[in-house]
Amino acid sequence: MNAFPRFLVVLSSFLLLLISTRTSSAQLTRGFYSNICPNVEQLVRSAVAQKFQQTFVTAPATLRLHFHDCFVRGCDASILLASPNNKAEKDHPDDISLAGDGFDTVVKAKAAVDSNPQCKNKVSCADILALATRDVINLSGGPSYEVELGRRDGTISTIASVQRRLPHPEFDLDQLNSMFNFNGLSQTDMIALSGAHTIGFSHCNRFSKRIYNFSPTNKIDPTLNSQYALQLRQSCPLRVDPRIAINMDPTTPQTFDNQYFKNLQQGMGLFTSDQVLATDARSKNTVNLFASNKSAFESAFIDAITKMGRIGVKTGNQGQIRVDCSRVN
Ligand code: HEM
Ligand SMILES: *[C@@H]1O[C@H](CO)[C@@H](O)[C@H](O)[C@H]1NC(C)=O
Ligand SMILES: *[C@@H]1O[C@H](CO)[C@@H](O)[C@H](O)[C@H]1NC(C)=O
Repeated sequence: MNAFPRFLVVLSSFLLLLISTRTSSAQLTRGFYSNICPNVEQLVRSAVAQKFQQTFVTAPATLRLHFHDCFVRGCDASILLASPNNKAEKDHPDDISLAGDGFDTVVKAKAAVDSNPQCKNKVSCADILALATRDVINLSGGPSYEVELGRRDGTISTIASVQRRLPHPEFDLDQLNSMFNFNGLSQTDMIALSGAHTIGFSHCNRFSKRIYNFSPTNKIDPTLNSQYALQLRQSCPLRVDPRIAINMDPTTPQTFDNQYFKNLQQGMGLFTSDQVLATDARSKNTVNLFASNKSAFESAFIDAITKMGRIGVKTGNQGQIRVDCSRVN
């Protein structure tokens, strides 16, 4: 071997090392707090369980909050930041219906963590939200999983950053896929994560077009089960009170199960973005699999929510650990 290729070998292994240290610095780990705050999981869990006992809304509210956090500026708790002039991420129309109980869950869990002197101001709000999300899924009967940790909190929250980052209930499969793909999530991930609509509520205006003036016929969306459509009309009268919210899974509204996919097979997906998963030929096989095999859904959901929890995370010395989750330090 002459000196030139050896030089190349040394150079390329140096480059590989450089690349791997760069990516590993941006990686989350399961045992991140094992020396910093060994009880963090129990502290969060007990606060979340107590809140869940007070109101079931805790579960869907916290789960949706984590999703909306991760899709905008990454999972950095930017969604939790308050703004004095209503120009923060949470003030965007796509976030305005996030239920207060989700924010309150993080406040309660953060207080529980900080009540331990060793842990005080050592655990990020972004990690607390990810742990609380795992706990509400478990408390609702959903699958258990380990949460990767080590996220740092962001310092920026603007209305503008939400624009075109969150999916809308009228989306078709291509629009859903492109938004999830943008975040490194596959179609299977997107379908599994949509299964989160097995718990929680929607306000009537988010789907009223489908039951009253579905274009071009001005009647009922033909992909909607007609029986279910009439039920929806009763719960959501035409001149609807905007405060009314209904269960998204009418069958088992407070259980995190695969009923959502069985509903889709019956034409009982509340949003166009739900129902399209069962009508589009490219996604319906996955819907059928998740409807017939609960453990297939659960393992796909765990994969997908773990991937979602990695979106755009800040690690190492990026960002900060907020003292108050609603304010930059
Ligand atoms: C696939 C595209 C998605 C669309 C178009 C969508 C849209 C919506 C809409 C319009 C609502 C009703 C909000 C209201 O009226 O208050 C809602 C609620 C909800 N979404 Fe989604 N969502 C999607 C994906 C997800 C994902 C990925 C998750 C979590 C992993 C999620 C979790 C929830 C939960 C738990 C609720 C109930 C919130 C509550 O009861 O407070 N959604 N979603
Ligand atoms: C919730 O978590 C507990 C403790 O990890 C576990 O024993 C229980 O089986 C879980 N519940 C479900 C529905 O997975
Ligand atoms: C259901 O899915 C699980 C997990 O993917 C798989 O191991 C199992 O074989 C499937 N069961 C059936 C009946 O297909």
